[in-house]
Amino acid sequence: MKQPILKLNKIEKSFPGVKALDGASVNVYPAKVMALLGENGAGKSTLMKVLTGIYQMDSGAIEYQGKTVSFTDPRHSQLSGISIIHQELNLLPELTIAENIFLGREKTNLFGGINWPKMYQEADALLKRLNVKHSARERLGNLSLGEQQMVEIAKALSFKSQVIIMDEPTDALTDTETESLFNVIKELRQEGCGVVYISHRLKEIFEICDDITVLRDGKFIAETPVSNIDEESLIEMMVGRRLDELYPRIDAGKGKCSLAVKNLNADGVKDVCFSLNQGEILGVCGLMGAGRTELMKVIYGALKRHSGEILLEGKKINPSSPKQALDAGIAYISEDRKGDGLVLGLSVKENMSLCSLVSLSKGLQLNHKEESASVAKFIQSFNVKTPTQDQIIGNLSGGNQQKVAIAKGLMTDPKVLILDEPTRGVDVGAKKEIYQLINQFKAKGMSIILVSSEMPEVLGMSDRILVMHEGRISGEFNTVDANQEKLMACAVGRNHNEVTQ
Ligand SMILES: Nc1ncnc2c1ncn2[C@@H]1O[C@H](COP(=O)(O)OP(=O)(O)OP(=O)(O)O)[C@@H](O)[C@H]1O
Ligand SMILES: [Mg+2]
Repeated sequence: MKQPILKLNKIEKSFPGVKALDGASVNVYPAKVMALLGENGAGKSTLMKVLTGIYQMDSGAIEYQGKTVSFTDPRHSQLSGISIIHQELNLLPELTIAENIFLGREKTNLFGGINWPKMYQEADALLKRLNVKHSARERLGNLSLGEQQMVEIAKALSFKSQVIIMDEPTDALTDTETESLFNVIKELRQEGCGVVYISHRLKEIFEICDDITVLRDGKFIAETPVSNIDEESLIEMMVGRRLDELYPRIDAGKGKCSLAVKNLNADGVKDVCFSLNQGEILGVCGLMGAGRTELMKVIYGALKRHSGEILLEGKKINPSSPKQALDAGIAYISEDRKGDGLVLGLSVKENMSLCSLVSLSKGLQLNHKEESASVAKFIQSFNVKTPTQDQIIGNLSGGNQQKVAIAKGLMTDPKVLILDEPTRGVDVGAKKEIYQLINQFKAKGMSIILVSSEMPEVLGMSDRILVMHEGRISGEFNTVDANQEKLMACAVGRNHNEVTQ
C-alpha cells in the first residue's frame, strides 16, 4: 500500500448558513497526481483553504509527513512545503512578473538590499520552464489572463514544495499553455511531489491524474485510481445520479431575422457578415485570439467599429457603449466573470438585478418585491447554491458565481443574448441545467450567440455554427453538417470549401 504524504481526515467547516465541509477527506501521495472532484459548491476549494491555513476547521485532522499538523496561516503551510495555486488570481498587475513571484520574500544580498539580478534570473528560469515568452522584468498587467495564470503557477513552483495544489489552473489557459503546464506536472511527479488537481474538465482528469477523490455536499464519497473508472461512472459519483444526454438541443422553429451584421470591421475583426434568427442558437468557435471576443465586443458596443452595419430587427443600431446595446436589447455575458461580469462585493440579488433595474422599477422606485421574486425564480431554476439572496457573491463557489452571471443576462429579457464561454468552471450537472435554461429562452424566441472553445458544446447546442480565424469568418455550417474535424480545420485557417469537399 502506498503511504500518503498528506492526509486530511473527516474535516468539518461551517460558514454562516452553510455547512461547506461535512466529513471531507482526501489523501495525497508522493509522486502522484490526485484529482479532487465534485460539483460546484461541493467544498473542494474550501478544503484546500482549510489545509493551507486560510480557514480554520471546526473539527477533523490533518496529517502531514507522518505528523499531526494545523496551519494557522498560508505562510506557515508554505514554509512547511505545501503551496497552492488559487482558483482566483492573487497577483498585482502594477508590479513586474519577478516582483509578483517573490512578493514578501525578496532575495537579499550580503548587505541586506534586494538582489534584483538574482530575482530576475530565478524568475526567468521559472518562466522558461513554463514556456512563457516574457521577461520577468515586464509588468504583469501587460500579460494575457492565461499568461498571468502561468505566473501564478511559476510562483507556486518557486517554493519547491512537496505538495502542490492546483485549483482549476487551466480555466484561463490556451491549449498550448495547458500542454506546458501538464509537462511541468509530469516533472513534478517525477521529482516525487504530490499534486492535488482540481478541474471540471474531465478530459484533463483522465489525461494527467493517477487517482481521484470525489466530494459531494462537503462529504467524502470515494477514492479510486483513475484506471478503475470511466467518465460515466465518474459523473454519477459527482452528481449522485446518471446524466443522460448532456446536450438537450431543441428545435424552436425558425423565426424572423433578429440580428444582421454586415461587413463589420474593427481591431481584430475583418469584414464579418452573418445573421441570426429568433429562436436560434448560433455557435461561434475558433482558437484563442481568433477574434471571437472582439466581434462580440463590437456588437455590444464595447469596441469601436471602423466600418460596417449592425441591424437589430431590421433597424440600424450604433451602440457606442454596453449600456446602449443593452437598452437596444443586446445583452452580453463576459467570459471574464471576475473582471467585468460580477461585482464581487455585492450580494447575489444585487448582482442579478443590476442590469434589470429599469424594468424592475416603477417610476423612480425600485419594486423590491418584484426584484426578490424574480431573483428567487432564477436561484431556483439555476440551482444556485447560496444560503440567501443577500449573500455576498464573492463567498459563492466559482461555478455558482458563473450561474449568477448568466442569470443576470437573462433577467434583462434581451432580444439577443451573447454568452461568451458560459460554462467555463461549471460542473457537468450544472452545465446541463444551464443548457436547459438557455433552451427555455430559445423556445420563447430569444436569439442566442454561444461563443465557446469547447467544440462538443458548440456542436451539441447550436443550430448553426460560425468558425473564426484571424478576425474573419472561415466557415459556416448547419450543425447537422458539422463535426469536430471540420470545425477544427476552419479554425486553423483552411477554407470552407476545402473542408467540406
Ligand atoms: N467565505 C465563505 N463564506 C460563506 N460561504 C462560503 C465561503 N467560502 C465558501 N462558502 C460556501 O461553501 C460551499 C463550498 O464552496 P467551495 O468554494 O469550497 O466549492 P467548490 O467545490 O470549490 O466549487 P467550484 O467547483 O464551484 O469552485 C459553497 O456553498 C460556498 O458558497
Ligand atoms: Mg472552487
